Amino acid sequence: MSAQFDTRFSTAEAHFEPMLADRLDEVLRVEQRAYAQPWSRANFIDALHSGYQAQILMGDGNVVGYFVAMKGVDEVHLLNITVAPEFQGQGWSRILLDALAIWARGQGAEWLWLEVRVQNLRALGVYEAHGYRRVGLRKDYYPASHGKREDAIVMSLRL
Ligand SMILES: CC(C)(COP(=O)(O)OP(=O)(O)OC[C@H]1O[C@@H](n2cnc3c(N)ncnc32)[C@H](O)[C@@H]1OP(=O)(O)O)[C@@H](O)C(=O)NCCC(=O)NCCS
Repeated sequence: MSAQFDTRFSTAEAHFEPMLADRLDEVLRVEQRAYAQPWSRANFIDALHSGYQAQILMGDGNVVGYFVAMKGVDEVHLLNITVAPEFQGQGWSRILLDALAIWARGQGAEWLWLEVRVQNLRALGVYEAHGYRRVGLRKDYYPASHGKREDAIVMSLRL
């Protein structure tokens, strides 16, 4: 997959690559800077071994962002979507979410599902702007700092 972007986002061409094991060091460097509770290397390796869809958006040799998604019967579940901190606020999440939706439609999925921390207002705004609706709440779904837990909002998008 490749795309030429509006100069508001980047003057360079960016493209998607499958997330292969040889890119995991770079991915983990982004993951650890992007989250207080990052995925571990083992989480990524498990996802790759399970055959989940994992794509990296590369720009000028840098990891701009990535997503990991799991295909179900008639739905796709988004497990991880991340934009590297130095590329945040430039609209890249839309490119990732569009690519995810295109892939999911191609798989015959009718729905996209995801969970998001109740306090992650930025991500909630991004998903709502992309057409996702709030459909539920999972109590204490995520680990949080100081041994606490945080609720997740469940969102879905009809494809
Ligand atoms: C959530 C995330 C994927 C959004 O990606 P993004 O490419 O930065 O999104 P956008 O550029 O479209 O920005 C979305 C909104 O957040 C704001 N924003 C993004 N980065 C920001 C920053 N560093 N500081 C302040 N505001 C920021 C943008 O201004 C925009 O607001 P607007 O819609 O009112 O204009 C990205 O911030 C991220 O990876 N965060 C850490 C990981 C995470 O939370 N992932 C989602 C887990 S469910």
